[in-house]
Amino acid sequence: MFQNLFKSIAANRVIRSIFRVGVPRSNLQRAQAAISSFLLHVQPAKVHKNVLKFRTTLGLGLITLYLFIILVVTGILLMFYYVPSTEHAYQDMKDLEFVVTAGLVLRNMHRWSAHLMVIFVILHLCRVFYTGAYKAPREFNWVIGVGLFLVTLGLSFTGYLLPWDQLAFWAVTVGTSIAGYAPVVGNKIKYMLLGGNIVGQSALLRFYVLHVIVLPSIAFFMISVHLFRVRKDGGLARPEEPTALQKEHILSQLPQSKTYGLMELARGTTPAVGIRQEDEVFTWPHLIFREMLLFLLVSSVVLLLAIFWNAPLEEAANAIHPPNPAKAPWYFLGLQELVAYSAFWGGVVVPTLVVTALVALPYIDRKRHGVGVWFSKERKVAITLFSICLIAAISLTVIGSLFRGPNWAFQLPWKTVPSEEFHP
Ligand code: HEM
Repeated sequence: MFQNLFKSIAANRVIRSIFRVGVPRSNLQRAQAAISSFLLHVQPAKVHKNVLKFRTTLGLGLITLYLFIILVVTGILLMFYYVPSTEHAYQDMKDLEFVVTAGLVLRNMHRWSAHLMVIFVILHLCRVFYTGAYKAPREFNWVIGVGLFLVTLGLSFTGYLLPWDQLAFWAVTVGTSIAGYAPVVGNKIKYMLLGGNIVGQSALLRFYVLHVIVLPSIAFFMISVHLFRVRKDGGLARPEEPTALQKEHILSQLPQSKTYGLMELARGTTPAVGIRQEDEVFTWPHLIFREMLLFLLVSSVVLLLAIFWNAPLEEAANAIHPPNPAKAPWYFLGLQELVAYSAFWGGVVVPTLVVTALVALPYIDRKRHGVGVWFSKERKVAITLFSICLIAAISLTVIGSLFRGPNWAFQLPWKTVPSEEFHP
């Protein structure tokens, strides 16, 4: 019965006018399903079977993408209830909790997806590094990725201020003061960000506009280019993929009839060159089903987190009662820890060096060893250096988060000193 119902729905004229191919039954229709759909045509009709293996990417790029989508949807819904004014913002948070139906779950979903997106973008960056997937021809996509990493931090940081509670106010006060340490331009950047010298109404409005329009638009544009390039750079990195020279050779061996030549020229930048037919699978249904499953999984985890775990909301922002210590958001706590030793090194030199090194990496490390292989032995030096930096960054963040108490003095997390008892 269900099969007949399904068939008649698929054959319906209105449905056919939207989904041209219907449910694909032949290989030709499977290819058409991917090519003729607006959403699916980002992917080729066929992909290398490695793409289906979970261990190739651990799904990290896709998870980051899905979290971004969840953030956009929940963010738009939150905009219906939120006014970016110092008089209303905090009350709007309370209303979300006590007045708006499912408002708290909505806010929680947005908050936890934002934290998860920062975590997953870092994990994705590490996966791309450890599989050597930043090497030619993917150098520029890595650079776009570094941009996306910074935009993700920007998105999360600008959102942090919006609840206008003590946590938001002081985290942003500390975060923006780190930006102020840059020589010559530092204070100007800080002034531009805040629209003044302190966090107030102008800062809230600027952060709001950056958070809901400027940065999401940049992220959307960059993600589109990023995904386009994943496809045009030959799909995901794999050990046996031909180099640019080999691709050129393969193409030169093809018959030169006019249309065929043009087709192949276009295919020179697609996975089709250098992939044996027996290594390919149809995107529909093999890849699409896995992608849909992952989306369901990510949304369910975010929803469960949001149901069982509330996003923090402290007292309303109070500019004359700073908490001791005032801490930046967790992803900047490594920097804050460094700033405690030296404002110039922690606030300027180290972040500049890290971003420059990340951007320059694929142009410095050019040997094609270990592409598409996890922890390749041929890349021992690069892997060791990267891992040392990663461990240092994680250690600084953990120290800043858990081992710093009033006046930034060292304290064990299980022996927290209440601030009123603290005597420096
Ligand atoms: C908003 C942030 C990002 C999103 C949504 C995103 C999304 C994706 C997706 C969906 C893929 C396909 C494979 C996969 O799932 O892993 C991918 C691949 C890739 N990403 Fe990202 N990415 C982001 C940030 C980054 C960052 C921070 C870097 C590195 C600095 C990066 C570098 C790359 C590279 C080089 C590839 C090709 C990898 C390969 O061929 O194996 N991406 N990205």
